[in-house]
Amino acid sequence: MDVFEAIEKRHSVRGYTGRHIPGEDLDMILRAARDAPSAKNLQPWKFIVVTDRPTLRELVPICHNQGFVEDAGALVVGITEDEKWSVVDLAIALDHLSLAATALGLGTCWIGAFHPDEMGEKLGVPDDYTVTMCMTVGYPSTKGKSPTKKSVSELVCKERYRER
Ligand SMILES: Cc1cc2nc3c(=O)[nH]c(=O)nc-3n(C[C@H](O)[C@H](O)[C@H](O)COP(=O)(O)O)c2cc1C
Repeated sequence: MDVFEAIEKRHSVRGYTGRHIPGEDLDMILRAARDAPSAKNLQPWKFIVVTDRPTLRELVPICHNQGFVEDAGALVVGITEDEKWSVVDLAIALDHLSLAATALGLGTCWIGAFHPDEMGEKLGVPDDYTVTMCMTVGYPSTKGKSPTKKSVSELVCKERYRER
């Protein structure tokens, strides 16, 4: 699958079969995250990969009761150092992960609705890191597609800003 196909196929998946993700596939998507660009190449992130089912279950209330977290093959929890562009850097890395996962037939969903302090406490995150963003990864149990996106012409201004 080329990158354009992965971009087109990717959509938020909120239903998973609970099937185990093979270690090689997890390694591949984590390498894709690792290869992402970051400001000054600081790579100010770590990824905590939770696959243990009872732990995933315990994370559901921390993720604002988003029940599909329990059925995912993994919850990737992105934690960042206190650097100017950390949040942007992590977002790029997780987007790489998401596209790589799509290419392997896996679904993903960004999880921004969660309690960072409780997540950090539960996963033993040290104080010098912030729990910034999470992403479920797993085999989809539902057939979904992305909601409608704005047209490119609505989003793009040629040469300078111009009201439509
Ligand atoms: C920063 C961020 C946080 C998000 N948090 C959640 C979340 O907590 N739960 C959820 O179901 N979807 C979450 N989403 C997914 C968005 O709802 C989804 O990307 C959007 O509706 C567009 O759909 P698509 O991903 O299928 O293109 C989040 C997306 C982003 C980028």
